[in-house]
Amino acid sequence: MLIKKPSDIRPSEITSEANYMNRRTFIRAGSIAGASILAAPAMAAVVPDQPRAKLQGVIESEFSTDETPTSYEDVTGYNNFYEFGTGKEDPARYAQEFDARPWSITVDGHAEKTGTFHFEDFIKPFDLEERIYRMRCVEAWSMVIPWVGISLADIVKHYQPTSKAKYVAFETLHDPVRMPGQRRRVLDWPYREGLTIAEATNPLAILAVGVYGETLPNQNGAPIRLVVPWKYGFKGIKSIVRMSFVEKQPDVSWRMAAANEYGFYANVNPEVDHPRWSQASERAIGAGLFAPRKPTLMFNGYGEQVAHLYDGLDLRKNF
Ligand code: MTE
Repeated sequence: MLIKKPSDIRPSEITSEANYMNRRTFIRAGSIAGASILAAPAMAAVVPDQPRAKLQGVIESEFSTDETPTSYEDVTGYNNFYEFGTGKEDPARYAQEFDARPWSITVDGHAEKTGTFHFEDFIKPFDLEERIYRMRCVEAWSMVIPWVGISLADIVKHYQPTSKAKYVAFETLHDPVRMPGQRRRVLDWPYREGLTIAEATNPLAILAVGVYGETLPNQNGAPIRLVVPWKYGFKGIKSIVRMSFVEKQPDVSWRMAAANEYGFYANVNPEVDHPRWSQASERAIGAGLFAPRKPTLMFNGYGEQVAHLYDGLDLRKNF
């Protein structure tokens, strides 16, 4: 994502007017999906293993933005997922063969409950919620995405981290046969990310298992990925196989690749420029070529919910 300079952006990466027009169709599809959303709390999360299967028993979240979601086509066609190539259209093209089942997730480190769990068992104790979030990529583009996910705070509490656990570290599957992009050393595999315990237990953080009311497409990180809407998109690690409760700040992929460009915190901050571009504004994907850029908001507009997590921290040094 970061290796590209603006001059490298291919015309195919620029959203066409046709996409913009198509968006209306997807908004309609979205409101049909919305009809299956129930008000009552779900009993146990169940996620079918087929692609594009409707998710049942999804609760609406109080944290959703009322902004219009980006089209399904853009959300699932313009992606970063280096395990399937470095171009924006590569994941949609090359992740189709990927089979996200069977899947298991290992929980380890400083917690009362640890172990390796089948994906189905891992998600079962929790509610599924639709969270329509504003998302901001470090590359200065943004989307509004109707995720379906599970509160990460609920998941963390379930495993009962001990007082030694200061951070939660995540890892993506490392399997160059199933993820052919890992045959190239564009990153030090597996992809890694991490949050402080306070960040992981903030009500906004979720592990997503769906989008647009349906199971998560492979290119978006099937079967389960992190979503942290006040941070740059690269924190949203996809296809998670490990969640570790650790004492020390974990190594995270983009910081390992270029520590001067990508910090551990990665909070959306219009006041701190990326070394190669300004962070002050963003291009809304799908808004059309001539749409004006939007000003980027501190913490991506979620300051009321998360600014307190960083009290006393110099956000220029801790970028
Ligand atoms: N997770 C893994 N495993 N590999 C990746 O290359 N890219 C990150 C993040 N998660 C990435 C990843 C980046 S740079 C972004 S912007 C988001 O995924 C994009 O998520 P989306 O394609 O679902 O919008």
